[in-house]
Order: sequence, then structure tokens, then C-alpha cells
Amino acid sequence: MRIDIITIFPEYLSPLALSLVGKACEAGSLDVRVHDLREHAHDRHRTVDDSPFGGGPGMVMKPDVWGEAIDAVLSQPPAAGARATLVVPTPVGHRFNHAAAEGLAAQEWLVFLPARYEGLDARIAAHYRTRAEVTAVHEYCIGDYVLAGGEAAVLVMVEALARFIPGVLGNDESVLDDSFAPGADGLLAAPAYTRPAQWRDLSVPEVLLSGDHARIAAWRREQGLQATRDYRPDLLRGEGS
Ligand code: ADE
Repeated sequence: MRIDIITIFPEYLSPLALSLVGKACEAGSLDVRVHDLREHAHDRHRTVDDSPFGGGPGMVMKPDVWGEAIDAVLSQPPAAGARATLVVPTPVGHRFNHAAAEGLAAQEWLVFLPARYEGLDARIAAHYRTRAEVTAVHEYCIGDYVLAGGEAAVLVMVEALARFIPGVLGNDESVLDDSFAPGADGLLAAPAYTRPAQWRDLSVPEVLLSGDHARIAAWRREQGLQATRDYRPDLLRGEGS
């Protein structure tokens, strides 16, 4: 999969060279390219934003600068005829969840457009929805809070979707059992333990040492149910997303 990210803070994305995503890049299952938006701002101050029409606080990111930057990325497809899926992190978007991550992971080419300030000029999403090289423009919110910019949201989304790319996780099955996965029956995961079996004054629940797989599975299910009641009762009411 190819991932392009256009930003005014390219260094903000450097964690993508680490850990799981970094290893996937080294192994060739992911090709992540970060582009500096300011290379497409041509005035003396390399301006990327301007005040909002209609007044109000803050600044809006300019469509002409973004348009040139996005067009430059779209002119370099990973393969002839490849179409890009554009992703805009924004508090005014669909909730980014397990299903959204899985959907993005199935695409061959993602282009992330993280904004600063009060966001992107609304014509950017409208325009790219009409472009033949673009399959879709998704606007996603990663949680009910406002970040200073979309870059941290891009890190979150790329880490979440990378886990669905075949070969990225050491054990391909673990993604099926994650909290929020359909395979988890809408329950959060049970607590986990490892060696030593006794640590300070705490021991591992006896059932996990029993070797009785049916009992262990039943215990994990009960614990997952309890965690879900405690932390996310909305999931038990079928309201989670
Ligand atoms: N940009 C600012 N806040 C955000 C959020 N909660 N999710 C995604 N992008 C954002």
C-alpha cells in the first residue's frame, strides 16, 4: 500500500519510521511518503492560510496551495491507473473506528490531508470528490476533542489501519480478537498477564495456569463482559461504533 501525507510539519510524522509501521515500510508492504505543503506556497512568506470569508476567529487553509500539492501527489500514482482515497482528519467528520480502519486498509493508495488552524477550505473536499483519479474523500474524527492539528490523527489512523495489512502484524490472527473487532462479539478484551506468575503481592488468576482451554475461554469472556460493563456500557447496548 502507498500512503502519502501532505503537511506543514513533515517532522511530525517521523514516528511512522518506528515500530510496526516502520518495519512494514522496510519490508515493502507499506510505502509512506511525507510531503511539505509549503513547497506549494509561492509568496515570499510561503503562506498556507488566510482569514475566513464571513469573518470569525482563526485562519482557513488555502485551496490553491492545497490543490497544487494534492495534484502533485496524484500525478505520481503507485501504478498506472491507480486511484487514490483521500483522508481528511477533522473534528467535523465521521467517527474513525475499527470498521473505518479496516476499510482504509483495503485501499491501494491513501492520501492524508492533515490541516492546522480552523481547517481546510471546504472546496478542497468538494473538488476532489469529482476527480477521476480519486475513489473517495473521507472526513474522519478520531474522538470528541479538538486537536491543534490533524497530524496526530494521521499517526493514529495509520497505526490502526496498518494492523489490517497482511503481513504487518506478527500474528495475523490477533487483529480478529482485538477489542472492537467483530470477532470480539462487541466486548472489550479480558485483562492479560505474563511471567512471573507471582509479582510483589499479586498472583496471576489461577485459571490461566490451569491448562484447561475451555475454562480459560469462559473466564476471558466473563472478564471481557465485565470490562465492557465497567468502561463501555454503550457497546452492550449496541450503540458503539
Ligand atoms: N483535527 C482536530 N481535531 C481532530 C479530531 N478530533 N479528529 C481528527 N482530526 C482532528
